[in-house]
This record gives sequence, structure tokens and C-alpha cells, in this order.
Amino acid sequence: MATQAEPILTGPDAQAIIDPANYVDWDALLDRFDDIRRDTPVVRVVNDEVHDPFWLVTSYDDVMRISKDNKLFLNSPRSVTFSDKNSGAFVKSITGGDPNLVRSLVALDAPTHPKYRRLTQDWFMPKNISQMEDEIRALARVTVDRLVDASQKDGKYEADFVPLVSAPYPLHVVMQILGVPEADEQRMLFLTQQMFGGQDEDLNKSGMANMTPEQIMQLVVGAVADFEAYFAKLTEEKRANPTDDVASVIANAKVDGAHLSDRDMAGYYIILAAAGHDTTSASTAGAMMALARDPEQFARLKADRDLLPGIVEEAIRWTTPVQHFMRTAAEDTELGGQKIAKDDWLMISYIAANHDPDIFPDPRKFDASRSPNRHLAFGAGAHQCLGLHMARMEMKILFNELLDRIETLELAGEPIRAKSTFVGGLKTLPIRYSLSK
Ligand code: HEM
Repeated sequence: MATQAEPILTGPDAQAIIDPANYVDWDALLDRFDDIRRDTPVVRVVNDEVHDPFWLVTSYDDVMRISKDNKLFLNSPRSVTFSDKNSGAFVKSITGGDPNLVRSLVALDAPTHPKYRRLTQDWFMPKNISQMEDEIRALARVTVDRLVDASQKDGKYEADFVPLVSAPYPLHVVMQILGVPEADEQRMLFLTQQMFGGQDEDLNKSGMANMTPEQIMQLVVGAVADFEAYFAKLTEEKRANPTDDVASVIANAKVDGAHLSDRDMAGYYIILAAAGHDTTSASTAGAMMALARDPEQFARLKADRDLLPGIVEEAIRWTTPVQHFMRTAAEDTELGGQKIAKDDWLMISYIAANHDPDIFPDPRKFDASRSPNRHLAFGAGAHQCLGLHMARMEMKILFNELLDRIETLELAGEPIRAKSTFVGGLKTLPIRYSLSK
């Protein structure tokens, strides 16, 4: 740590917070956040040349307070995810001053945010999405069927669970709810990877790892334009022939008497497409890793499916796929003993909050019986994840299918996390398994 007493991180300690490579070694990352939370739970992170300074917030109570006080801690006008000076300036030059490339729910505050959120809020409620259970189960079955395609060794199958199951499944689901035909899924995946996968060389198929930040940004801008064009066509179709998917709701919605602009509609579709798959994939892979490491727990769960909701909830806390969001102070205030000035930028670390030992005893333990488990992986307050019921339902359906089909489960190699400061999780999970007769 830079210093015990001063609430400031500089040099390598500050760089470590924003370096995607540091998010690969989970235990080292949690150690770092533990040290910071214990010594300076609200600490200024300064990398002068690289980014504007921000306050890193690591305690559960402070992250909760910020999330729930949507008047004092705003999502606009700064970027809602961490960005460095170069890419920030480039985005502004493209959007005409907006620091967010995509204008979506996460970039809005009241009074606009609730108006836009209300448009789809009911659609995402359990009552509505439960009608999709059969459709989603069919997608889960098709995905789980692929387990038999894996290679066999000594009578057991071996596969990488991420590309085989946990990545494609939530993508199918989110594309289904957006009404995107299966034939276009790969294109959507490619676009989201171009937009959000730039930090890990294995997760983008565009050679981004060898590009300058400016080149990456240009690629991302192209991907956004492509998204907009794609969804403009989809909107036309959904206006002419509305169906029961969420794209039809967005295409036909009106705010203050008018349809949404193309940019706003694209923002809505993009946030759903992007927020809905990597996140759920990361929690699904994390749960599978925990089960592969603990055959007794796996056997108990196979025998008693009532344990499944606890497993799913704990997996979401334990993995915390959305690692941070940013907020901006609307007024001078105080937080964790520090003076926060109006317009200061804050990083709320969901990873650190969800591993705060004052709230979660033995936080690194995967404990499916943890109760209460009021984690912050879905955020809290006005922006709390719109898709949280969907994510839980998707995971429960998939695990029910997996538990029906898999007889024994173990790790077949070292799981590897992606390099990413924003949405993070396993990119590789080698498993060995046998199938039920
Ligand atoms: C395990 C899976 C998921 C996790 C961990 C997750 C996490 C989050 C988090 C942390 C936020 C920001 C909350 C805040 O600022 O307080 C968020 C927002 C959001 N999520 Fe999720 N999410 C998941 C799955 C989904 C799914 C499946 C969908 C939709 C298909 C979805 C759609 C959204 C949307 C639209 C927002 C923006 C809400 C707003 O700003 O009003 N998410 N999510």
C-alpha cells in the first residue's frame, strides 16, 4: 500500500486498481481490496497522466449508501464505467460531448431515468418472465445436450464449460427476449465482444490486444453504429408486427407522447444485450467451478433441488460479475470520514463490498446456506439490475438440467479469469464429468 494513514493511492497501488491484468488473480485482488477496506475504505486513486482521479469505495455500507442515494450520487454526467483520459476524450468527440458512447439506462438520472426504466420494468417482473420458462428450458436443454459432444478419456468426458455451456446459453436467452433470430446471434456476439471484450486478448476476435486505445475505440464506435443499424431494422419489424418480446415493448413505447429516438432505442437494446449475457455466464461458470471443487455439495444438490436457490444466490455474490460502476457527487458530502466535493468521481467496488467481512462472515467461502445473503452484485437503489429475476431464473433452469444429466463432476485443469476491470469472470473452466445413464 502507498501509505497507511493518507487516503490516497498513487503509483503502482493506484495503477493496480485500473489494470485489467490485476483482475485475473482473484485471491490477490481480494487481498488488495481487503487491505484497502481495512486501512482506507474510501480512498482517492490518482494516476495523473492516465485518468481523472476518483474515490475508490470498498465497504459494503458505503457502496450501499451511494447506490441508494440517487440524488446525491449521480450516474451522469461522467462515464458510468471507468475510462482513461484518451478514450474519454475520444468518446466525447464522437458523441458531441456525451462521455457515454451508448445512451442507456445506466447513463441516465431522474427525471428521465424512471420514465425509461418504467417502459420495461413490468416485462422483467417474475409474473411476466415466468411465462417464458418453457422456452428458456428448451434453450437450456439444447445447450446441455452439447455435453455429449465433448471428447472422452478413461470413460469420462472433458470439456471447457465456458465456450460449451455458460457463454452461449445466456446469449441465446437474451437474444430470444430481444427477438433476434438465431442466425444473427453470432453477429450480435461479435459486436458485444468488440464493445466490451477489448481488455482480454482471448475474448475479442478482432486482434484488439495489438491495437492502440484509439484504434480500439474506433472499432467500438463502428460496432455501436452497426448495432444501431441492425436494431433500426428490427424496430421497423416490431412496429409492424409486435410480438411478446421486450424489443416489441421498446419499439412501440412512448415517453412524453413520442417514440424513443434511434439512439435511445439502440441504447436500450444494447444495454440489454450486453448486460444480459457475460454477467449471467460469469455467475454460472463460477457456480460450476464451486461444485466441481466440492463433490459432496454437488451430490447433495443433485439429491435436493431445494438447495438450488441458495447455490445460485451465493454464486452471484461469490463471483460478482459486475465489478464496479462509477458515480458523480452532486453536492459536497462526507463518506467514510472523507470529504467528497461536488463533481468528484467515485468507483463503487461491488467485489470489495461483497467480500466485506463485517457483513459476510468468511467471505471467500462459497457457502450456499449463507443467510441472509443481501449481496450487492445486482447493485441497489434506482438502477438495481433490471434483469435480476431473469438471471436467477435462467441459472436455476440451467442447473436443473445440468444436475439431471451430470452424474459426477470434477475440475480437469486450472480455471482462468478474464482480464477485465468492468464485467469479469472465468473465460476457461476445464471440467471432467460423467453423464447419468
Ligand atoms: C448474474 C447476472 C447479472 C448481474 C450480476 C448483473 C448486475 C448488474 C448491476 C451491478 C447493475 C447496476 C446496478 C446499479 O447501478 O445499482 C445492473 C444493471 C442492469 N442490468 Fe444487470 N446483471 C445481471 C444480469 C442481467 C440480465 C440477465 C439482464 C437483462 C436481460 C440485465 C439487465 C440490466 C439492465 C437493463 C441494467 C440497468 C438498470 C438501470 O440502470 O436502471 N442484467 N446489472
